[in-house]
Amino acid sequence: MRRVAFIGAGRMGQTIAYSALMDGIADEALIFDIVANVPQRFSDELIHALSTARVDTRVIGTNAIEDIKEADLVVISAGKPRLPDQSRTAVFADNAKVMMALAKELPMRNPHATYIVVTNPVDYMASIFMKSSGKYTISTGAQVENMRMRSFIAQRLGVPVTSVNGFAGGEHGENLSIFWDTVTVNGIPFDEASGGALKRDEVASYVKGIAAQVIAALGGTSWGPSRAIGDIISSFAKNKNKVLSIAAPMKYKDEVIHVSRPTVVGNPIGPTLEAALSSADRKDIDAAAGRMYKEYKELLKTLQ
Ligand SMILES: NC(=O)c1ccc[n+]([C@@H]2O[C@H](COP(=O)([O-])OP(=O)(O)OC[C@H]3O[C@@H](n4cnc5c(N)ncnc54)[C@H](O)[C@@H]3O)[C@@H](O)[C@H]2O)c1
Repeated sequence: MRRVAFIGAGRMGQTIAYSALMDGIADEALIFDIVANVPQRFSDELIHALSTARVDTRVIGTNAIEDIKEADLVVISAGKPRLPDQSRTAVFADNAKVMMALAKELPMRNPHATYIVVTNPVDYMASIFMKSSGKYTISTGAQVENMRMRSFIAQRLGVPVTSVNGFAGGEHGENLSIFWDTVTVNGIPFDEASGGALKRDEVASYVKGIAAQVIAALGGTSWGPSRAIGDIISSFAKNKNKVLSIAAPMKYKDEVIHVSRPTVVGNPIGPTLEAALSSADRKDIDAAAGRMYKEYKELLKTLQ
């Protein structure tokens, strides 16, 4: 890939850029933030790290949005993070304004870019960015939870993480669904493989609750989600066609919404593999889509 842009150089923007660029995904990286000096000095840090890894990517940090141009991929993590006791939708109105402002600036200089939104509530922010910009946009969705789920099962059952497979999806966050019929350990269905040593409820409550615990202790999540998001970026940039649980746009009634489903991530992105899921897992996706559409419509009203 020739050029990737990172919009937002906070905790997430920095760790995502580090994680993705270390995979040697682009000739050039543009880093943008509104805080003076942050993208510039972070770019210095990145160049030092990339040089150590012998990765030749030109990195430019800037506070001028006009410098963000001709990118093939734009990754947006600009906006407010939630506090430990807040839900992700608490920052909806503030972050929607950031998405709408960026949607006015980015597409004209980056008309051929694919856009990846990270900012929370991520599925709704991707829908708002796509609605306001008219550009193809994905949400990083539940890929973060996939890795939280697989790593927790592996640690608790004492097996290598590579032997755990399966997908979470629907909505990123507290309303996530685990597609249990896809979850296997060494190819054996989860319930049989765990033999009662680990219950579905324990897995679900860890996967849904761990982010709040990390935020309370460390001020925010970063390394875990950023590596999962780096994997999404790398799979797109290198056309790896990995199956990841991202939320690609989905027409639902009168809106385009973002609901996570196992999806082939290459360039271009897709198809989604929803049709290959069991009817129980597909039912969870339908329920999530219905609930998310309703909540999204209500939240949109708060912007008027
Ligand atoms: N999708 C996920 O899995 C996931 C995981 C963790 C965090 N997040 C979300 O990512 C977002 C960022 O989190 P963070 O921890 O990096 O927060 P942060 O406060 O560390 O960084 C946010 C950055 O955005 C910048 N910013 C604000 N408005 C901007 C604009 N208009 N243009 C450019 N930059 C702007 C700020 O200056 C700041 O540097 C939050 O909404 C958070 O909830 C998403």
